[in-house]
Amino acid sequence: MAAVLELIAGSYEQITFGYRVKTGENDWTAKPDFTHHAHTASVSAVAASERFVVTGSKDETIQLYDMKKRTEHGALLHHEGTISCLEFYGTSHLLSGGEDGLLCVWSTKKWECMTTIKAHKGHVTSLSVHPSGKLALTVGTDKTLRTWNLINGRSAFIKNIKQNAHIVRWSPDGDRYVVVVNDKIDIYKLETASVTGTIANPKRISSVKFLNNSFLAVAGDDETVRFCDVEKAKWVCEFKAHETRVKAVDSLMVDDYCVLLTASNDGYIKMWKIHLKELEPPVLLGEVNTTARLTCLAVWRPVQPISDGPSKAATSEELTQELTKKKRVREITEKVIVEDESKPKKKKKKNGGKKTVKQ
Ligand SMILES: *[C@@H]1O[C@H](CO)[C@@H](O)[C@H](O)[C@H]1NC(C)=O
Ligand SMILES: *[C@@H]1O[C@H](CO)[C@@H](O)[C@H](O)[C@H]1NC(C)=O
Repeated sequence: MAAVLELIAGSYEQITFGYRVKTGENDWTAKPDFTHHAHTASVSAVAASERFVVTGSKDETIQLYDMKKRTEHGALLHHEGTISCLEFYGTSHLLSGGEDGLLCVWSTKKWECMTTIKAHKGHVTSLSVHPSGKLALTVGTDKTLRTWNLINGRSAFIKNIKQNAHIVRWSPDGDRYVVVVNDKIDIYKLETASVTGTIANPKRISSVKFLNNSFLAVAGDDETVRFCDVEKAKWVCEFKAHETRVKAVDSLMVDDYCVLLTASNDGYIKMWKIHLKELEPPVLLGEVNTTARLTCLAVWRPVQPISDGPSKAATSEELTQELTKKKRVREITEKVIVEDESKPKKKKKKNGGKKTVKQ
């Protein structure tokens, strides 16, 4: 079955690339579809929902791209400093974290900032939303790992981790999570919030992605991608993916196999087929030379896989209700400024703490 999907990659060169993928049994081709040059500095984060691609940058803005209309959809100007992480929760919410230490929850309906949390004393370096949508984890440069209750926007748990972590990620089942500090991965169990295993990569880790609930793909400052079994805290597979360091990994399930996507400083995005059941070395399905130094990667699909289904939709609705309640109270102090599209694109800052939505 031919799946519709697109690869989205951000670069140091300020440009976001979209490639339409044609899928075949053992041969995938990626054709240029769009380039989005909305940022004035390097792209630092990218995420995709069914409808939107969002990119964050060193230029302190989050830019929106409407995949249905194929047009730019304005910018979210709320953070000060680099946007370090972006993650959609279902189709209803986007979470953003930045060097200003803020964690923001956005409604994707009108792109309003529903909640702003001063999450860390330093930068927010990474965030991850629990599959239930009720909790989020953040790590930051204040050497803490924090758990947030997204229903009421409050801190639920703070753990001192003695070092600055730069990646945090829930497993797909949400029963464990990983915290990355430089070249080291600590594997935590949700129940006890304790470390069940630690594994070291030869180089600093740049990106991780759970392939299934027990296997984690790990990329770092070398050309090799490794798979870690997080139950045993052991490496189970490694292969040379690129000519230089791998900057980002993502994956998706297609029929009964997994496709790993890798993006590198060498300019290439590569697509790899992995049979999780047999776990043989990955087979290269296809590749594309973007000619840019890539920084981040996401995959866009018009319809999300079934695993994002009913239970999630219910909780995200619950989340909307709760956050809307909260917002009504906040509206006295916060105002949404909707800018006219005809105005030239200009970066607005320090709106007295108010959010600005340009549409
Ligand atoms: C993940 O894939 C590995 C590799 O085949 C398999 O052994 C393991 O059982 C899978 N884990 C889950 C939770 O599906
Ligand atoms: C990728 O494209 C760039 C620009 O066209 C080119 O300089 C580079 O050699 C290409 N890479 C390879 C491995 O062909």
